[in-house]
Amino acid sequence: MVVEKSKFLGVDVNSETLTVVALGSGGRVTGRAQAHYRIDVPRPGWTEQDPAVWWNAFVEACRRLQAQTDLTSVVGMGLTGQMHSTVLLDRHGDVLTKSLLWNDNRSSGSALRLEQTVEAGRIREITGNRLMPAFSAAKLQWIKECEPDIFMRIDKVLLPKDYIRYRLTGVLATDVTDGSGTAVFCVEERTWSDELIEAFGFRRNWFPDAYESSSIVSRVSRESARMLGLTPGIPVIAGAGDNSAAAVGAGIVGQGQGLVRIGSSGAVLVTTDDPTMFRYSVDQTSSVHNFCHAVANTWISMGTTLSAQLALHWFYDALTVDAPELLENYAAMAGQALAARSLDDGLLFLPYLGGERTPHIDPKARGVFFGLNFKHDARHMIRAVMEGVAFSMRDCMQVIQQSDVSVDDLRLTGEVIRDATWCQIVSDVLGAELCVPVHQEAAEGIAFLAGCSLGLYDMDMISEKPCVARYVPDETYRGHYDALHSTYQALYRAVARLF
Ligand code: XUL
Repeated sequence: MVVEKSKFLGVDVNSETLTVVALGSGGRVTGRAQAHYRIDVPRPGWTEQDPAVWWNAFVEACRRLQAQTDLTSVVGMGLTGQMHSTVLLDRHGDVLTKSLLWNDNRSSGSALRLEQTVEAGRIREITGNRLMPAFSAAKLQWIKECEPDIFMRIDKVLLPKDYIRYRLTGVLATDVTDGSGTAVFCVEERTWSDELIEAFGFRRNWFPDAYESSSIVSRVSRESARMLGLTPGIPVIAGAGDNSAAAVGAGIVGQGQGLVRIGSSGAVLVTTDDPTMFRYSVDQTSSVHNFCHAVANTWISMGTTLSAQLALHWFYDALTVDAPELLENYAAMAGQALAARSLDDGLLFLPYLGGERTPHIDPKARGVFFGLNFKHDARHMIRAVMEGVAFSMRDCMQVIQQSDVSVDDLRLTGEVIRDATWCQIVSDVLGAELCVPVHQEAAEGIAFLAGCSLGLYDMDMISEKPCVARYVPDETYRGHYDALHSTYQALYRAVARLF
């Protein structure tokens, strides 16, 4: 058997899985391996992970990949992963505590207090965003208030992919997309904000330099190369947060293109080449995220749903408690969820299991099934979970559209694409045609960017690739979903004060 040589690796430190993808000539996928882990939930609304778990999963995934492809031919790497999740190192480079994750909401009070330390509106002016509890600055403030001993010992603040880089190359660095999610970053100028870092009582030297995503900033160390079967010294680009990396893979790189990404979290994003609009579009109630994109001189406007596939995973777990062997039966039921769709069944699900970010910055929100009757069974509930996430995506789209960004090309990626039923529901609920691109994973996108950076690939290779699937909204459901979406929004308004 002739094994195709791999040229570039992309690594994605996701919330439930570490994925390593290898690309060969022409950007073809030559190998893919994963290692899984869980999110620790010490209390409702709190989520954490030990960074060592990510590193061990990375080593494990590389070991599995070696069985598929020759890693010694790899000439470059890219890193991506969950945004906002904050890794704290002491002055010896050791991890100080578990990472508070992107969907951890414990720092909501801290975020409000931090906002009050500067003139009203100044954070939005500099960062292009409201200070949301997810952002690193709010997490640092929580550590300051609740874990002062740890706060005193902070020497470096990293994002998950940058922690992998640190272990892989020994270099401390980040990129402009991940910098954007910290709330101490000037998104328009694509650089750290000394003003906010000082105002919040942090130190500039905690934050490693932020580079454009495609810049080569580090090289694989001899020790890591030996452990992982790679060639020492191969370049590792700065990389990007997961949504931007996935957008690159999907060919979303120019003005007015849009992406719906449903993985653990859900995101709807649109690209723009005009960051000045952020200054006008973000008010003190806005839940839009305005971040640098992984492509120079390009930005994204995004809405984020905290529990997308996490909600469906939760529901399967809840159904199969003490009987994991039943999981496959229920997963198979997802295929029947469309058949369980009827125009008058009235079942709704709010997917806010661990709080929500877009469109409600509401850390206290929780999941709700509404309208259950004796005729409903697990299939209807699975369908309602899928629809609830799709409604949340529709909310994200509406929030983005308030910024006057128009979308003329909408693509769909993330784990959701393995489930044609769910994809159809998303298309029906959004009332939009969705193209599934060839490269659907953040790991592929970032490996591709590494290839572009080293001159072996170019962006046109991606944008010219046709869709592998296309979902067209079923007109029968348009009016139904318009009405159900209004009820979904009204349901949240009705129960919000009870959370
Ligand atoms: C983006 C966000 C999530 C995480 C999940 O703002 O919080 O999409 O990046 O991995």
